[in-house]
Amino acid sequence: MQSLQHVTALRALVAEWRSQGQTIGFVPTMGSLHKGHRSLIVNARSHCDRVIVSIFVNPTQFSAGEDFSDYPRTIDSDQLALIEDGVDALFLPQVEDLYPCGVINTTTMVSIAGLNNELCGAHRDGHFDGVLTVVNKFLNIITPDRLFLGEKDFQQLYMVKQMVLELILPVEVVGVSTYREADGLAMSSRNQYLTNTDRTKANGLYNTLCGIRHDLMKANNDFSVLENQALASLRTLGFVPDYIEVRRQQDMAKAMPNDQELVVLGAAKLGKTRLIDNVTLSR
Ligand code: PAF
Repeated sequence: MQSLQHVTALRALVAEWRSQGQTIGFVPTMGSLHKGHRSLIVNARSHCDRVIVSIFVNPTQFSAGEDFSDYPRTIDSDQLALIEDGVDALFLPQVEDLYPCGVINTTTMVSIAGLNNELCGAHRDGHFDGVLTVVNKFLNIITPDRLFLGEKDFQQLYMVKQMVLELILPVEVVGVSTYREADGLAMSSRNQYLTNTDRTKANGLYNTLCGIRHDLMKANNDFSVLENQALASLRTLGFVPDYIEVRRQQDMAKAMPNDQELVVLGAAKLGKTRLIDNVTLSR
């Protein structure tokens, strides 16, 4: 596996592969790799000749007071995992490689009006502008055929797909199913912040979302009642919920009684760990 820091070196490698007619899959990550990331890589390998993974803890997607400086950085074990998984190239940029004017002086950002301030965006100021901007930069540098993202971050996946559509970017965005622990907890690098006691309760978020899905499948359309009941039961379990919402899958608008393809999204803090998850349903 080649490890590259600089944009020019990565572009040269991509040009070489392209000249050989090879297809390129790209998996962006912030490192601290777990089985969820590794399932993205397995998918990328099965669909593309070459796989590039990036590890970059992107400062612009963290709001003030969030865990940017504490975010787990485990580059040595990550590199071993990537070699084991047959990744061709690891892109390891520094902040100045992706933000040539510096983060403070960056004025060009990608933003999706509306959704950037809803759901997770309502609780993480500027988060999605940071995500979309860095993903756009990666797509400009790598020009992959396919981009692989996890479905756990449903809103992120939807917004990246929307950006690709509206900015007419030549890439296929592939969503990969959420990888779960045996008790249902969605894999996340932030799960390692959980204390042992909190870990035993952490699947409560997934179970709560599944409970709403069960009711929706029985044609219960009292969305706000279901959401409020779920918020109350999460509080009883010890969570501090940010939101629980039923939305339409196709455009993430608020659900209406006739909608069939739904997604139930939730985010809640357990101690200092913020967990997010979602379940989809078709009825
Ligand atoms: O999902 C993540 O880990 C990040 O938001 C991403 C897509 C790598 C952008 O920094």
